[in-house]
Amino acid sequence: MGDAIGRAFGDEYADADPLIRPSQFADYQANVAMSLAKRLGRPPRDVAATLVEHLELDDVCEPVAVSGPGFLNLRLRDAWLAGAVGELRADPRLGVPRQRPQIVPVDYSAPNVAKEMHVAHLRTTVVGDALVRTLEHLGHDVIRQNHVGDWGTPFGMLIEHLLDVGEDSPEAQLLVTDPNAFYAAARAAFDRDPAFADRSRARVVRLQAGDAETLRHWNELVDLSKQYFNRIYSLLGVTLGDDDLAGESSYNEELAGICDELEASGIATVSDGALCVFLDGYTGREGRPVPLIIRKSDGGYGYGTTDLATIRHRVRDLHADRILYVIGVTQSLHLTMVWDTARKAGWLPDDVEVVHVQIGNVLGDDRKLLRTRSGAPLKLMALLDDAVTRARAVVDEARPDLPEELRAEIAPQVGIGAVKYADLAVAHDSEYVFDLDRMVMLTGNTGPYLQYAAARVRSILRQAEGAEPGPVEVTEPAEHHLALRLLGFGDLVVSVGETLEPHRLCGYLFDLAQAFSAFYETCSVLGAATEASRASRLALCETTLDVLVEGLGLLGISSPARM
Ligand code: ARG
Repeated sequence: MGDAIGRAFGDEYADADPLIRPSQFADYQANVAMSLAKRLGRPPRDVAATLVEHLELDDVCEPVAVSGPGFLNLRLRDAWLAGAVGELRADPRLGVPRQRPQIVPVDYSAPNVAKEMHVAHLRTTVVGDALVRTLEHLGHDVIRQNHVGDWGTPFGMLIEHLLDVGEDSPEAQLLVTDPNAFYAAARAAFDRDPAFADRSRARVVRLQAGDAETLRHWNELVDLSKQYFNRIYSLLGVTLGDDDLAGESSYNEELAGICDELEASGIATVSDGALCVFLDGYTGREGRPVPLIIRKSDGGYGYGTTDLATIRHRVRDLHADRILYVIGVTQSLHLTMVWDTARKAGWLPDDVEVVHVQIGNVLGDDRKLLRTRSGAPLKLMALLDDAVTRARAVVDEARPDLPEELRAEIAPQVGIGAVKYADLAVAHDSEYVFDLDRMVMLTGNTGPYLQYAAARVRSILRQAEGAEPGPVEVTEPAEHHLALRLLGFGDLVVSVGETLEPHRLCGYLFDLAQAFSAFYETCSVLGAATEASRASRLALCETTLDVLVEGLGLLGISSPARM
């Protein structure tokens, strides 16, 4: 298109953006005539007509028509599409390019020790994992960073409670099965028993001083919590493991130095006994400056100090090119203050991109933060179990003909896939209402719908019994449309890597599944008129299946073989 623009209007125009967009009336439309018209001082339709005369797209497109005020309607030739799908089939990457590798630490999941993971943690875990998979597939060097909350004042109380109940006691096992109950019991002892409270305070001091025995108990506590996280991760099928843990505690050694350095350079100043960073542009009520507190008046360090050490580590030691924080939208102020401070201190150079992938709230029916009826936070494990139970009911109803063991095997894939897809299909920064019944439905833009679509294609391929896929021919409109969708996969995955928006991939897969349905309704596959046409249609089926499975895989969703 650029060449044609140059030939038509002179080389100085050749780099004009052709403004190619999907179109309702053709496959694409090029809107460049409108923008050139202004520069050339000529009517847009006139510019469009001149441009058409200079296009050399005969092999690729049908004759180009000008419509409306000067849109160029582009419709790809069926023969060209068939060739392109043929190439796609030969490409094991299905059109997804391998990009120049960047080092990308991704901060996601980050639950807290001795606390229940809640649905917001679920969402950062699921979205983060989809981004990690996608970026890795694009060729990047992703470093998972699970910034778990494993340090701070409550740990004195938690350790004392663990010592009181005994490491091997059923009470200690609550850390694995019901961490909030363990936390609540420790808290109750703290509030009830002044001697326990004193012991707890003394314990924090020893913990911070690095006392060996205290650290050993702290490790026991963290280990039990890890078992809890890992149970959730394996149920969810996310790629986080123990090696990816980079909790708050791992930065302890750095915190004093961080404060000293910031104080020495004048970036931090003491205010009311606390060491604070005051940054331009951060003011609260009545215009009062909001500080980032990096050392409290009691000498303790906070969340901000740890995050400063964290970003320095990611830039200096991990050599990050791009750093993602997949964390709650409510932490946006905290993050920008940390980044601004790090920039001032020289720990975050301009050529390192930092992105807050903001995770929106998950709401209940009442449009308030999702909780149980009694107002307590939901237990994630129970919620996931519930999803699997409901998925089982859906599978039982849809496929009573399948053997019992198979239905039992499919249910967790569908239930977990449903929950993950619901988290991924909406823009990550928007709120949404958690509705399990809707998530497990087999119709609409849901995970089970896509899994079902993939399983249906598999079943068509099974029924073909010996008939082999062959060279692709595109003749029917539904084939044309399906081929066009298939060819869009590579660019779409690239766009997810750029925008960090997995919901685009969900939308794409949903469109693809619908294009496949339309194709299957209008183009008989097994009953095709000729052997060549059947082979071609089987090839379209096979490629659709490959793209669906690959796309769901990038989202971290499995595709059951039968459903
Ligand atoms: N543990 C924190 C929470 O539960 C999230 C940590 C996010 N990561 C970070 N680098 N601050 O809210």
